[in-house]
Amino acid sequence: MTSISLKVLLSLAVAGFAILQITTADPDILVDYIAPPKVAGDYFTFAGFRTLRQRPPPTFTVTKASMKEFPVLLGQSVSYAALQFPAGSINPPHTHPRSAELLLVAEGTLQVGFVDTSDKLFTSTLHQGDMFLFPEGLVHFQLNANNQTAALALSAFGSANPGTVSIPSTLFNSTIDDNVLALAFRTDVDTIRTLKKGFCPK
Ligand SMILES: *[C@@H]1O[C@H](CO)[C@@H](O)[C@H](O)[C@H]1NC(C)=O
Ligand SMILES: *[C@@H]1O[C@H](CO)[C@@H](O)[C@H](O)[C@H]1NC(C)=O
Repeated sequence: MTSISLKVLLSLAVAGFAILQITTADPDILVDYIAPPKVAGDYFTFAGFRTLRQRPPPTFTVTKASMKEFPVLLGQSVSYAALQFPAGSINPPHTHPRSAELLLVAEGTLQVGFVDTSDKLFTSTLHQGDMFLFPEGLVHFQLNANNQTAALALSAFGSANPGTVSIPSTLFNSTIDDNVLALAFRTDVDTIRTLKKGFCPK
């Protein structure tokens, strides 16, 4: 009796693990690609990065080539983002809930880092041509510490829709109650309101 229920428990655990494996990756598709009828090569082409080097933006700018911008990626488990850093700019701490990120520095230098689930920080200074891996779901950032020159990076993802959770705006530009945040950050409500003000339109 005991051995039977143990077997049942074990098989349930194995099945649960298999389901977890399936639901944490992009779903597999059972066709070559997903596209409307009669598409040609241009449906598989994304030209949104052509102007990256011609128009340096005044603030940190992300240009995504994910499922939304490039619909043929649906079901293919890949995507890109281009990150443009004016001199001295930052990509604030954030996570991608559905994918790791492999960042390649195309121009300039970047200081990067991520924090693992034991609060250990891993940092590096990247130069042109260097790559860095941000593991799936972990909080990370990039900084162009050079106040003279811009930097450009390309990030590859193992999901057509990696998603982004920006830590500052998730916490201080949502409607989480001030008291909850004051308790969470071991501070007072006035300090929380000051932090929230930074996200209000000027
Ligand atoms: C630019 O960086 C240099 C070296 O880090 C520093 O000495 C200088 O004060 C900085 N200039 C500005 C405008 O921040
Ligand atoms: C804060 O949220 C509002 C509305 O959700 C949005 O329009 C605005 O761009 C956000 N501000 C920042 C700085 O992220």
